[in-house]
Amino acid sequence: MLCSRILIMEQVLFKHNRPGRMTTFDEYRSEGGFVALARVLAGMTPDEVQQTVIDSGLRGRGGAGFPTGKKWSFVPRNLPGPRYLICNCDEMEPGTYKDRVLLECNPYLLVEGMALACYALGVQHAFIFIRRGYEQAADNLRQAVAAAHGAGFLGKNILGSGFSLELDLHQSAGRYICGEETALINALEGLRANPRAKPPFPAVKGLWGQPTVVNNVETLANIPAIIKGGPAWWKGLAATPEAAGSKLFCISGHVARTECFELPLGMTLGEIIEGPCGGLRPGSTFKACLPGGASTPYFTKSHWDVPMDFDPVAKAGSRLGTGGIVVFDQDTCMVAVTLNLISFYARESCGWCTPCREGLPFVRHILERIETGQGRSGDIDILREHVRLLNYAFCALAPGAMGPLEGLLSHFEDELQQHITARCCPFEGAHSI
Ligand SMILES: Cc1cc2nc3c(=O)[nH]c(=O)nc-3n(C[C@H](O)[C@H](O)[C@H](O)COP(=O)(O)O)c2cc1C
Ligand code: SF4
Repeated sequence: MLCSRILIMEQVLFKHNRPGRMTTFDEYRSEGGFVALARVLAGMTPDEVQQTVIDSGLRGRGGAGFPTGKKWSFVPRNLPGPRYLICNCDEMEPGTYKDRVLLECNPYLLVEGMALACYALGVQHAFIFIRRGYEQAADNLRQAVAAAHGAGFLGKNILGSGFSLELDLHQSAGRYICGEETALINALEGLRANPRAKPPFPAVKGLWGQPTVVNNVETLANIPAIIKGGPAWWKGLAATPEAAGSKLFCISGHVARTECFELPLGMTLGEIIEGPCGGLRPGSTFKACLPGGASTPYFTKSHWDVPMDFDPVAKAGSRLGTGGIVVFDQDTCMVAVTLNLISFYARESCGWCTPCREGLPFVRHILERIETGQGRSGDIDILREHVRLLNYAFCALAPGAMGPLEGLLSHFEDELQQHITARCCPFEGAHSI
């Protein structure tokens, strides 16, 4: 299928990028950096900032796509004591690396976005929870926080407005579950990183029992542009009237260009692969992809024309997730891919609840025996039953882990059956993934 639309968009998140190095404070300032914060502190109320974000239609970029302004509105206005904002930069999902790229290029966008969010939420102390191993991004953030402090954009009485804010960086101890917002809060408190029961939701009772908003890096980095350009302009960056803004798509797998691109939300899968990705690499044809990171059901060629936006992707049976697109070609064994992903999830289960702790290693075991030619006739039914059972787990890790398995059963049942009947992997000898 050929793509007929050529979409060119203004770069918002990547506007300040320099090849191979981080944007400096002076460069960011000279290109309009911190103008949004100055404008807000000079003449907008916190409610007006929140309403602007609601009007923009911004949806969380951390995976679930929850409307950001709506999430902020859940924070009670009248509870005594502090409230907190936490930026989630755990980013341990295989195939997802957009937040790292953003922070390695320009950490100031996040610092300014967090300052604007904190003003809207009445927060005076915020945290950035960053993946262990993102050393460059953490160094960049330390520099950016120090520079913003030095110039009076953080600290006490910012620009004489009476608004004060401290930003602290916390490096994760390093587990995938630390990215789940309530496990993250436990980790930040120095407790074991198990998810908490919800309700109460963090917006009401979060860090140290106080109202807390957890937002993704990319979500927060969009706030300065929304304030500066206005919600209608920002919304209009998207490729369809239903979508809002741009999105970072981080691409990997069997395409010609594996990079992180800022693209209009709502471009079709085919437009993304044939356009910025440069098509499949030589000798490859498209078989399938993970459309939004490792916990999303596969898309196939039948999904080529699906707009890559939250609702259309959900309607087509998957999730936009993080925007991490992993492409597989004709020589890829989808059973092996799924086994690889389930092995990751089984290893990363926090062990708190039985369906996930026991169920994921069992699913891995079944997939392993199918892949190695020892599959049995009832195995496909067992896998299907586990997709159902793991939805009863305590947090979203286990249902997420079932995403690719669900895709395997929906689109590649024949491939599973072939493994069982032939008593071997039909792709043996093909390139590895
Ligand atoms: C197992 C698991 C891991 C997660 N990892 C991340 C992560 O690394 N970064 C992130 O922003 N959200 C992650 N999330 C989603 C967060 O719980 C939360 O929804 C998100 O940070 C909210 O930000 P947003 O509203 O800006 O999207 C994860 C969720 C689960 C269940
Ligand atoms: S679903 Fe898995 S990760 Fe989540 S609480 Fe249960 S054991 Fe832990």
